[in-house]
Amino acid sequence: MDVGVFIPIGNNGWLISKTSPQYKPSFDMNKEVVQKAEQYDMDFALSMIKLRGFGGDTEFWDYNLESFTLMAGLAAVTSKIKLYATAATLVMPPAIVARMAATIDSISHGRFGVNLITGWQRPEYSQMGMWPGDEFFSSRYGYLGEYIKVCKELWETGSSDFKGEHFQMDDCRMKPMPESKIPIICAGQSDAGMAFSAEHADYNFCFGKGVNTPTAFAPTAERLKVVADEKGRKVGSVVLIMVIADDTDEKAMEKWQMYKDGKDQSALDWMTQQGAMDKKSGKDTNIRDMTDPTSAVNLNMGTLVGSYASVAAMLDEIDTVPGCEGVLLTFDDFIQGMDDYGQKIQPLMKSRQHIKTAVVA
Ligand SMILES: Cc1cc2nc3c(=O)[nH]c(=O)nc-3n(C[C@H](O)[C@H](O)[C@H](O)COP(=O)(O)O)c2cc1C
Repeated sequence: MDVGVFIPIGNNGWLISKTSPQYKPSFDMNKEVVQKAEQYDMDFALSMIKLRGFGGDTEFWDYNLESFTLMAGLAAVTSKIKLYATAATLVMPPAIVARMAATIDSISHGRFGVNLITGWQRPEYSQMGMWPGDEFFSSRYGYLGEYIKVCKELWETGSSDFKGEHFQMDDCRMKPMPESKIPIICAGQSDAGMAFSAEHADYNFCFGKGVNTPTAFAPTAERLKVVADEKGRKVGSVVLIMVIADDTDEKAMEKWQMYKDGKDQSALDWMTQQGAMDKKSGKDTNIRDMTDPTSAVNLNMGTLVGSYASVAAMLDEIDTVPGCEGVLLTFDDFIQGMDDYGQKIQPLMKSRQHIKTAVVA
């Protein structure tokens, strides 16, 4: 099973709480996280794109770096970890994203891939006059399907004459072509999103579910497998999980309770209101459903809370889910969390016994 880190490109990571570690994003912090990931033989690092935060007392995600430029910088200070940036496809034309990806492919010597998102939060785009109208909620994966065709033509042949509903290329040129194939990831949870991944992506990222229920995402992985099988393609599921670990289960649970007690209600309310605006994509997208009182504080992210040994055992359970090829980790405290993962959790994982990390005391 591959292990990656969802790096903290936005303030406070993924905890919408007044009592979790408070920090602003910076290149230096993300460099430290990714260099630790590389030191501990993690397989990949991904950054998201978020163009508008949720406000509240913690100004949640009001501070966010840009994904491609951050990953370009990180490509220059790493040497073996795979790096993925997220493309805000509504505001970044495919020929530009294709060229930026080819550039980071050159900086990283073939370690770069792209996460394609359609966007689900109108104000991110309407604030700059770039929201195409609410009908986009139902047409967004049709748009993304054309988008990826343009990118792939440019990467594979250096030119595109694609003509579609959303994009019309006119002998568009893009050289140099990348040294390596650019892997594509998507995180579709709706039927349309999964159909896109089944046809075009190499991996589909999905949300873990619940607290200490590591295999609860199995039905989502199965849904993807069914549609990918229909297309005759192999597309692995990678599950997003937050790790909150400490010496004992009790100590870890105390931290989790403290974060929940400190939830930033006004930021959570804003997010719930935004999610509710999409009436078209179906309800199987738990990022939009903030009613789960156990974990709205971390965007309903699947969460593993426990001692280092308990977390290692639960990560190994994830590896048993059919179709699962990896896990994408977030932490409450990213610097401490990376060291705890590398030094105390990974060495206990059966699914990571092939890793021979030189543990730095
Ligand atoms: C690991 C992961 C990364 C994501 N990254 C972003 C992102 O950077 N920006 C964004 O607007 N949405 C992001 N999303 C949301 C997805 O792109 C997607 O819209 C969401 O999972 C709902 O699925 P649907 O689009 O099929 O309804 C991410 C989701 C996951 C699980």
